[in-house]
Amino acid sequence: MIKENISLKPYNTFGIDAKARFFISIDSVEKLKTILSLEQFKSAKKLFIGGGSNLLLLNDFDGLVIKIEISGIDKVTENENGVILKAGAGVIWHDFVMYCVDNRFYGVENLSLIPGTVGAAPMQNIGAYGVEIKDVFESLEALNTSTLEVETFNLEKCRFGYRESIFKHEAKDKYVILNVSFNLQKKGNLNLEYGAIKDTLSQMQISNPTLKEVCEAVISIRKSKLPDPAKIGNSGSFFKNPEIPITRFEKLKEKYPNAPSYPVNENLVKVPAGWLIEQAGWKGHREGNVGVHTKQALVLVNYGGGTGSEIKALAEKIQKSVFEKYGIEINPEVNFIG
Ligand code: EPU
Repeated sequence: MIKENISLKPYNTFGIDAKARFFISIDSVEKLKTILSLEQFKSAKKLFIGGGSNLLLLNDFDGLVIKIEISGIDKVTENENGVILKAGAGVIWHDFVMYCVDNRFYGVENLSLIPGTVGAAPMQNIGAYGVEIKDVFESLEALNTSTLEVETFNLEKCRFGYRESIFKHEAKDKYVILNVSFNLQKKGNLNLEYGAIKDTLSQMQISNPTLKEVCEAVISIRKSKLPDPAKIGNSGSFFKNPEIPITRFEKLKEKYPNAPSYPVNENLVKVPAGWLIEQAGWKGHREGNVGVHTKQALVLVNYGGGTGSEIKALAEKIQKSVFEKYGIEINPEVNFIG
């Protein structure tokens, strides 16, 4: 059923109270095709949403918002080493992770508790604690919104990068992801390289962790640093960590010997934007209804009643201040709508 003039507040984790002119939830590709074929909406602006966890609504949306609620997790193939699972785009990402952990399928445990849906996950190649969705990705099916044909995207075709995919570029607004297939292992290796995981496991006094224990450690780290969107509006990391030449980082180190970094390749390193923002004095800063999270400076928050424009204005001030201090540009990870 199509609703009119509804608030999108429950549908975006920032909790921005923008309105949609039209809104519909769909749970099948057939329904999606029907909606997209309606004469009334042929030329309307459209916004496809999953969990609404990576968008910033700047204005009311004068078009049709389509919430994808295609459900289901199916086994495509299985052998003694592993399994391929196909999950509907509307499955809550963390529910999918828990399904895998409960069935002892290895591969996505480090991605526990990331907000959002399965269908949104490939868009920005979600990642955490040394794992990205591309590492377990098999393929996905997406509806071409012009031809209404279902097309398959393999790993190569998705062009995954750090918080990047073809769906943020050439394929933007041209496809709707319907389902995603993942390649998971039965005798997988746990990825415990990331310092915070090691530290948390040792605090839990666990030296030889199980799949479930790694999942619990990740949940505990995320809960300690990242605000729960049900309590404080946010969309996780607001900015991407900038990648800069190693030579430039060496210069930065002369001035800031404690500056952290992660290697990207032989020429580039990634500098945690959270560190840059904190050192520039923004951590915990509040401006009216919006601010910078007290425990992780990479996360912007809406304390309630904040608007998309207020968040954007704060983000721009932070970008400017970081650039003035270090000469480093930081760019949003979140999609601005409107
Ligand atoms: N740091 C600070 N101050 C802060 C935040 C971080 O100094 O306020 C420093 C930390 O001390 C640490 C470093 O920055 O040395 C990295 O911090 P953290 O481990 O929290 O990770 P991050 O680089 O800030 C990225 C992802 C997160 C993901 C974590 C863990 C991006 C944009 N963000 O954050 O992803 O959970 O690594 O792997 O790459 C998300 O995308 O929404 C997200 C939460």
